[in-house]
Amino acid sequence: MYYPDDLVDEVRMKNDIVDVISSYVRLKKKGSNYFGLCPFHNEKSGSFSVNQQRQMYHCFGCGKSGNVITFIMEYENYTFQEALKYLADRAGVTLPEIKYSREEKEKDNLKTRILEAYKEAGKYYYYQLRSENGRKAYEYFKDRGLSDETMKKFGLGYAVTGRNLMYRYLRSKGYSDEVLKEMHIFYVNEREGMTDMFWNRAIFPIMDVNHRIIAFGGRVMGQGEPKYLNSPETIVFDKGRNLYGLNLARTSRKNNLIICEGYMDVIALHQAGFNQTVGALGTALTSGHVNLLKRYGENVLLCYDNDGAGTKANLRAIPILRSAGVSAKVIDMSPYKDPDEFIKNLGAEEFEVRIENAENAFYYEIRMLERDYNINDPDERTRFTNEIAKKLLKFEDPIERDNYLEAICSKYKINNEHMNKLLAKLVVKNEGISEYERPRSTIISNKKETDSGIKKTQKFMLTWMCEEPKIYKMIGKYLDAEDFTEEIYCTVAGILFEQLDNDRLDPAGIISRFTNEEEQNEVGSLFNTRLNDINTADEKSRALKDLLIKIKTYSLSKKAKEETDINAIAAMMEEKKKLDELKKIKIAFEED
Ligand code: CTP
Ligand code: MN
Repeated sequence: MYYPDDLVDEVRMKNDIVDVISSYVRLKKKGSNYFGLCPFHNEKSGSFSVNQQRQMYHCFGCGKSGNVITFIMEYENYTFQEALKYLADRAGVTLPEIKYSREEKEKDNLKTRILEAYKEAGKYYYYQLRSENGRKAYEYFKDRGLSDETMKKFGLGYAVTGRNLMYRYLRSKGYSDEVLKEMHIFYVNEREGMTDMFWNRAIFPIMDVNHRIIAFGGRVMGQGEPKYLNSPETIVFDKGRNLYGLNLARTSRKNNLIICEGYMDVIALHQAGFNQTVGALGTALTSGHVNLLKRYGENVLLCYDNDGAGTKANLRAIPILRSAGVSAKVIDMSPYKDPDEFIKNLGAEEFEVRIENAENAFYYEIRMLERDYNINDPDERTRFTNEIAKKLLKFEDPIERDNYLEAICSKYKINNEHMNKLLAKLVVKNEGISEYERPRSTIISNKKETDSGIKKTQKFMLTWMCEEPKIYKMIGKYLDAEDFTEEIYCTVAGILFEQLDNDRLDPAGIISRFTNEEEQNEVGSLFNTRLNDINTADEKSRALKDLLIKIKTYSLSKKAKEETDINAIAAMMEEKKKLDELKKIKIAFEED
């Protein structure tokens, strides 16, 4: 983490959660909580609650929860660092400069200068498009159906015809040759010096998620080669980590993201109201892209061109998305080539229909596979079935695999039992990626039960301790943070115990120790689960002892499995003795 915990806490404490959230959500006080409509899912009744005392929010509808920092991260799609900066500014807290080495500092200065220069260049192109010189380009965009508003939104521009107009312009603004070289929008030539890369082209600035220009694409207006000229990767532009239009799509608040190929596709879809669209700009989707877009949505609609290259791009993207846990569907645009043409011919409503009918990625893969076989020929059908089996083996989750197995077998009239046997055979031959367990095997499912069971038990214990800190006084001496075998709970327990030892319970403070959104939600839910089932003191005593013994037994048996060191084993036997004693004692729970 960048900043010391104390500072994070200070920023958090100076931003009252009710104050901050009130500027986004209309809150009403009900009892000791504030309620409002959840900003993270669609709802008509307010299940979003904010607790001022705990400085936390929780939605009983969608389960999102966290503190003031996570709220800003979630709502503004900020990183932890960005959210902290925002809240620090809001509360007038100065964050210290992050210390860099000299080398890093110089690199950072260069980067800042390049970004400034790009911004300046973008303004220049933007201005040219709207000047008399740019009339032709302006007409070009108009002919392609773009409104003034759309052109503005995407910062479209025009590069005039001239040998080095941009170069001279940026020099006049004080940028050094060193900076201009690193922009890679000039050709460097011994005789002529530096000349502009873009001449007489319609300009598409490429921006990062924070709306900063980091590259340009330029299109010939009419015929000509190359159709698009793009500035290359630089220290501010990493193709594998940028998606065209993500700066706009990230705040669309739709429940999906559309990925398409080209500049004009992204722009046309945004103009038609599909502002959740991003473009890969003719490069293959990478796991870097997927990590980036995963922050903004877990459902992806693939909308590559309706041609051979597009099919290939789909088939390459699907496994990458799948392994990142993103669910993908494929949009069929026939009879048109790309979304831009589709929208122009059939309009937004029809595109909406195509979104609704988008094909599940696995079905798509199998349908593309089917094209290579004549499934009426028995031999070819066998090979086709084998290929399906191999694909099925790539699902790691047995339930998911089983569901797909059933669906695909019924679609292609393959006997389920035969398919199951085929999978088992392939695993023996080592062709599967993941280990194949027969679906519904009792041994496997029992094992799963205990794993998730113990996780629940650990979670329950932590939640309870936050609700009723006095139980820590009663049983704390028996428990170590390490007894929480789930890594995230172990971390939470460590912090929580320290807080309780010092008599200052602060759940919201625990959440800020986690910078990743998933973990924050997980931890947040710890403090917002209701423990309704146990009521009387007697029930509580028994439940508490039960939880404690379960947690201790599991952690001990886990250690026993992993430990080979003879001294540690002796220590463990000591612990085992304590556990046996613990089983005999009575934990007295007193009513308040
Ligand atoms: N592309 C490129 N260089 C090229 C051709 C294509 O960088 N010479 C990239 C561009 O990002 C382009 C995308 O690949 O937007 C898709 O290419 P293509 O389908 O050929 O172009 P369209 O997006 O359909 O462009 P237009 O509608 O302007 O003809
Ligand atoms: Mn096109």
